[in-house]
Amino acid sequence: MEDTGVHLRGVTKDFGAVQVIRGVDIDIERGQFAVFVGPSGCGKSTLLRMIAGLEETSGGKIIISDRDVTDFDPADRGVAMVFQSYALYPHLSVFENMAFSLRLAKRPKAEVKDKVVEAAQILQLTDHLDKKPSQLSGGQRQRVAIGRAIVRDPDVFLFDEPLSNLDAELRVAMRLELARLHQKLGATMIYVTHDQVEAMTLADVIFVLQGGYVQQSGAPLDLYDDPSNRFVAGFIGSPSMNFFNATVEDRTDTGIRARLEGQPDVAFDVDLTAPPDPGATVVLGMRPEHLVVTEGEGMRVTVDVAEELGGVSYQHGTLDGGDPVIFQQTGARHNMHGTVQTVTPQTDRIFAFTPEGDRIR
Ligand SMILES: Nc1ncnc2c1ncn2[C@@H]1O[C@H](COP(=O)(O)OP(=O)(O)O)[C@@H](O)[C@H]1O
Ligand SMILES: [Mg+2]
Repeated sequence: MEDTGVHLRGVTKDFGAVQVIRGVDIDIERGQFAVFVGPSGCGKSTLLRMIAGLEETSGGKIIISDRDVTDFDPADRGVAMVFQSYALYPHLSVFENMAFSLRLAKRPKAEVKDKVVEAAQILQLTDHLDKKPSQLSGGQRQRVAIGRAIVRDPDVFLFDEPLSNLDAELRVAMRLELARLHQKLGATMIYVTHDQVEAMTLADVIFVLQGGYVQQSGAPLDLYDDPSNRFVAGFIGSPSMNFFNATVEDRTDTGIRARLEGQPDVAFDVDLTAPPDPGATVVLGMRPEHLVVTEGEGMRVTVDVAEELGGVSYQHGTLDGGDPVIFQQTGARHNMHGTVQTVTPQTDRIFAFTPEGDRIR
């Protein structure tokens, strides 16, 4: 069977003296929904544009469907790209916008019609084919942009932040539509976003980009449960993981006891297979949803802001030593604003990192 996956080998990109992509290996299997996620400016769009052939590759190889396409023209790569700015032709109808690339390729009239009508059905645009883009809502325009990709029947769909111009509600609705579209088409899709929630909800496989490298790749929950470093730990999950400096005071073969720098009357046991020596500084990571309010010992948090969302609330505060803390409360309504709470982490949910940000396992 033909492999329509996408494989990057040692890919780099220089803009003048600046290396934006520093050596990236990526494997996306046929039919996967892959998401490149990372903060603004980390090179997500550049990488996607290199896969599309819109940006030259400085080093390394790009393989699509078993062909080395590194030096191919965009049109010969079997990819179709959907941009954040829908880039529709304002003077053309929805039908003609979707038909544009097929007309350009001089496809027979009947085929053009069949393909556009079929794409319109998939995207629920059938009633809008005669309209101009200006007569459509933002969500419908984005669907037309996706339709233009679908009619080309590409091996790989490339999406660059396609939902960021939509308001919050529509973004969630379109996210679901994209998930359904992927199920329906079964095509390989690569989706770029800075929004880790979009990444978590859409992806079969996430690639977290930062500093020109893939920091970690894997299934969404694998990244959440088992981040390789502090960057990924802080980037995946909302609200972000809390981090506290601590000093190792005791070590056994199976773990450490580490005392918080910001609140020296509090120490936690952390199970580790490679525990650092006593005296070492470590960074302990604890997610807001794994901090539990207790009556007994724990971290004292002075809560200064309570965000109540209904089903859950986020209590923001500081430790005695001044470190910021967020913890989550679920179920009953909790407004702990102005109170001092004692919280303690679920013991099997404490992560440890070196001061440089590497995970200690
Ligand atoms: N044509 C270009 N010339 C010079 N620098 C560029 C060019 N395109 C992008 N960059 C730089 O490359 C970095 C990555 O950009 P980009 O891929 O757009 O990031 P992202 O999509 O992750 O926000 C940024 O620092 C950006 O300024
Ligand atoms: Mg971008």
